[in-house]
Amino acid sequence: MRASTHNRTKDWQALDAAHHIHPFTDTAALNKKGARVITRAKGVHLWDSEGHRLIDGMAGLWCVNVGYGREELADAAYSAMRELPYYNAFFQTTHPYAVELAAKLAQLLPAGMTRVLFANSGSEANDSALKLIRYYWNLQGRPEKKIHISREYAYHGVTMAAASLSGLTPMHPQWDLPLPGFAKIPTVYPYAWGGDQDPEDYGLAMARKLEERILELGADRVASFSVEPIHGAGGLMMPPRSYFPEIQRICRKYDVLLHLDEVITGFGRTGEWFGAQTYGVEPDLMSMAKGLSSGYQPISALGLGPRVGDAISSANEEMVHGFTWSGHPVACAVSLKNLEIIERENLVDRIRTDIGPYFAGRVKELARHPMVGEVRTQGLLAAIELMDDKTTRKFFDPKRDVGTHCRNHCFSNGLVMRATRDTMMLSPPFVISHAEVDELVGLAWKAIDLTARDLGRETMVGP
Ligand SMILES: Cc1ncc(COP(=O)(O)O)c(C=O)c1O
Repeated sequence: MRASTHNRTKDWQALDAAHHIHPFTDTAALNKKGARVITRAKGVHLWDSEGHRLIDGMAGLWCVNVGYGREELADAAYSAMRELPYYNAFFQTTHPYAVELAAKLAQLLPAGMTRVLFANSGSEANDSALKLIRYYWNLQGRPEKKIHISREYAYHGVTMAAASLSGLTPMHPQWDLPLPGFAKIPTVYPYAWGGDQDPEDYGLAMARKLEERILELGADRVASFSVEPIHGAGGLMMPPRSYFPEIQRICRKYDVLLHLDEVITGFGRTGEWFGAQTYGVEPDLMSMAKGLSSGYQPISALGLGPRVGDAISSANEEMVHGFTWSGHPVACAVSLKNLEIIERENLVDRIRTDIGPYFAGRVKELARHPMVGEVRTQGLLAAIELMDDKTTRKFFDPKRDVGTHCRNHCFSNGLVMRATRDTMMLSPPFVISHAEVDELVGLAWKAIDLTARDLGRETMVGP
């Protein structure tokens, strides 16, 4: 396919426009210009059908953590496909791939989280979490505990329930969501809304919004609180250290199950295996997806702590839930090999002690640009705020779509960086080298500077 791809770009674009509905896309607008066609990838780089090379600052969709082109993962898939291409775990059966992956996860997950249930996407893991939470309270003889609280700006996926749990408001009107029984609290965004308040005081105050909401709704009606350790798609807002211990205290006090959505933060992204460890929190349920297979296979998992795990394991009745592909052998084999690579190459330690601090130091240099306000990082995550006036923390008018403009400059100059509002976001593969971080930062600076130029703002030559 490689040599001749550029001859086919127009054909693929035409077929794409005729037959393919893209996720999260204005179909008419895309079809007018034609989609970018990505044809291959290696390490931290992508190539499009015209032969342009891009550095993937987003690891796909926050998932290709061990980088592209890992032969070992392809081999693991191939040998599982030859040995046992499919079997399920319904009807009192199991297979070695699912068993070994479940046991491996039990070893890696925070203490006490010894059981897992498999699904195929982050949305399905979250949907399963909500069902198990409802089932748990039914088993406890407390069926009135049914309200799921989550945060504004949260992204938990797109099934009817996961979208209802999500707090990004554009996700709701097209589908008449949220469903009944979903409540929101404001989130924690120190740079935008913390003002001059001490960040730790602000973190505590925002955690207490959960307590206020529980009291308003009645603790006897609240089933759970779902939360990402760090907002992903919502704009990489990172909590002050005070936030999660207070959330934990409140959940315990009011007997509300704590559900952590680690779909992005799981498997090392924050510099620990899980965001739960980074922020010192002990969830009752934990959703995982993306980095579980580094995106090489669709698979997700829901970790269960002792409360929910024991209740389901001793219910003495069938749990009426599961997918055809739950614990698919090929996806489990690839995930096992992916976790082996992360351990063997010490990628989590590397993020904590080497590439994470290097990345943070280099990316923070972007804050010298006149149009850049805060640059915040955790592990291999970074958010870069593009500001109308950084001295007064004034954001641009959203109608100007400055973030999208900057993102387009990134693409044209060989970098994939994502924008939420005017927050530019980075989440590169764990294997990115120091030199590649330098390349990434240089390209990000260039894209930001070109955006400033287009807006008639002060420009500045980069590092
Ligand atoms: C935190 C979080 N939860 C859930 C999801 C949904 O995962 P999926 O797209 O695999 O359904 C995502 C996807 O980006 C996510 O970032």
